[in-house]
Amino acid sequence: MSLLDRYGLDEREQVARQHFLGLGAADLPNLRRLRAAFVARADDFADKFYRHLLADEASAQLLRDPVLLERLKKLQADYFAGLLDGIFDAAYFETRLRVGQVHQRVGLPPVLYLGAYNHTSRSRSRCLLKRWAATRPPHCPRYCHS
Ligand code: HEM
Repeated sequence: MSLLDRYGLDEREQVARQHFLGLGAADLPNLRRLRAAFVARADDFADKFYRHLLADEASAQLLRDPVLLERLKKLQADYFAGLLDGIFDAAYFETRLRVGQVHQRVGLPPVLYLGAYNHTSRSRSRCLLKRWAATRPPHCPRYCHS
C-alpha cells in the first residue's frame, strides 16, 4: 500500500494542503527560478543546518554517526532541490510522507523538526529572495527589500 493511501493523501487533500500554504500555480515559475541559486549554495546551507543541529544536545543525539551525517547532507539538499522543482504531484507527496515516516522511525520529535525547518527557512530565504528579486519578471511584486 502506498503511503498516500495509508494516510489518505488523495488528490483533493494534496490540493487542499497547497491551498492552505498559499501555494498556487503562479508560484511555480518563481520556485523554479530559485532552484539554480539554491543548488549553487546547497553545500553551505547543509553545513550550516547540521552545525545548528549539532549545537543542540537533543538533536545532536540523533546525529552521532559521521557517515550518516554526510549522507544526510546530500539527502537534505536533494529534498530542497526537489521542492524547487515545483512539481507537486503524487510522487512528490509520496516521497515527503516517506521522509516523515523515517523521522518518526528514528524518534525525531515534531518540535525539533519544526524548529529545524523554521531555522533553515529563515537562514536561507534572505539569500534566495535576493536572487529571486534580481531575476523576477517586471510584473511580479517585490517581496524582498533588503
Ligand atoms: C528541515 C528539516 C529536515 C529535513 C528537510 C530533513 C530531511 C531528511 C531526509 C530527506 C531524510 C532521508 C529520508 C529517507 O531516507 O528517505 C532524513 C532522514 C533523517 N533525518 Fe532529517 N530532515 C530534517 C530535520 C531533521 C532533524 C531536526 C534531525 C535530527 C535532529 C534529523 C535527523 C534525521 C535522521 C536521524 C534521519 C534518518 C537517517 C537514516 O537512518 O537513514 N532530520 N532527513
